[in-house]
Amino acid sequence: MGQLDGKVAVVTGGANGIGRACCERFAEEGADIVIADLLDEAAIGTVEAVEKRGRRATYMHTDASSPTDIGTVMQHAIDTFGAIDVLVTAAGISTADYVSGRPSNTAAVERDPITRFVDSPLAEWQRVLDVNLTGTLLAVQAAARWMVAQGRRGSIITIASIAAKHPEAGSAAYSVSKAGVWMLTKQAALVLGPAGIRVNAIGPGFIETNMTAVLRGMPELEQRLLGSVPLGRMGSAREVANAALFLASDQSSYFTGEMLHPDGGFYTD
Ligand SMILES: NC(=O)c1ccc[n+]([C@@H]2O[C@H](COP(=O)([O-])OP(=O)(O)OC[C@H]3O[C@@H](n4cnc5c(N)ncnc54)[C@H](O)[C@@H]3O)[C@@H](O)[C@H]2O)c1
Repeated sequence: MGQLDGKVAVVTGGANGIGRACCERFAEEGADIVIADLLDEAAIGTVEAVEKRGRRATYMHTDASSPTDIGTVMQHAIDTFGAIDVLVTAAGISTADYVSGRPSNTAAVERDPITRFVDSPLAEWQRVLDVNLTGTLLAVQAAARWMVAQGRRGSIITIASIAAKHPEAGSAAYSVSKAGVWMLTKQAALVLGPAGIRVNAIGPGFIETNMTAVLRGMPELEQRLLGSVPLGRMGSAREVANAALFLASDQSSYFTGEMLHPDGGFYTD
């Protein structure tokens, strides 16, 4: 018997990395999966991975920052599988021009932090906040609207970051977006708790996905960052998905408004 038998999970950003690992892990525990992403080919790979695990999956091309797209994919989940029990908001970008799986532009990372901060174009700030923060809000609102209307006691899991609390010099937009996701998670937990809906965040450390390929290509920077990780290595997407499974399942029935940190010990204080 699986921990998510008969449940339906919607996963934004489910085509790659942490989102994909959540789709696979949840399917192993009995859930049917709805994948919302922009990258069609990779998303179809996730559909196949879920089906290989004996569960059903459907994909809809979705820009997480679009209210229309988010409304459409949630309706698609209900029409296809009849419910939304779990939501994971894993769609995210590190910079405005980041596309998962494409070689990253290292210029931004290599620029000195002062220049990167004072000369950062407004469009960069807006796109990162649109996808990471507004995209999370839209998905949480849409899923919660349906759960409340149906009296469904769902579990909502947002993907923040260690950057939500720790101001690593670099992309201010990314850190601020993740701090916003954390506050949004707490707000939603407070408001939705009385309806029986739990809302928790995961704040991963350095995880080996397409998003961190740029760091793995810069060994000095990678070593410096891993110096702040007691376990001395990057985590895997599956290790994050295991935390998401805990939050999605009844094992975490008394958790809400919490952030779990699969981070190899980055936060030891
Ligand atoms: N990898 C890490 O070290 C790390 C650490 C902390 C937090 N995170 C967060 O985890 C989440 C997943 O990141 P990942 O590391 O798996 O990266 P990833 O690039 O492997 O996956 C991100 C997925 O989100 C999708 N996506 C991006 N913009 C989208 C949009 N507008 N609409 C729909 N889908 C969109 C991408 O297509 C991709 O499939 C992100 O929110 C990221 O900020 C990652």
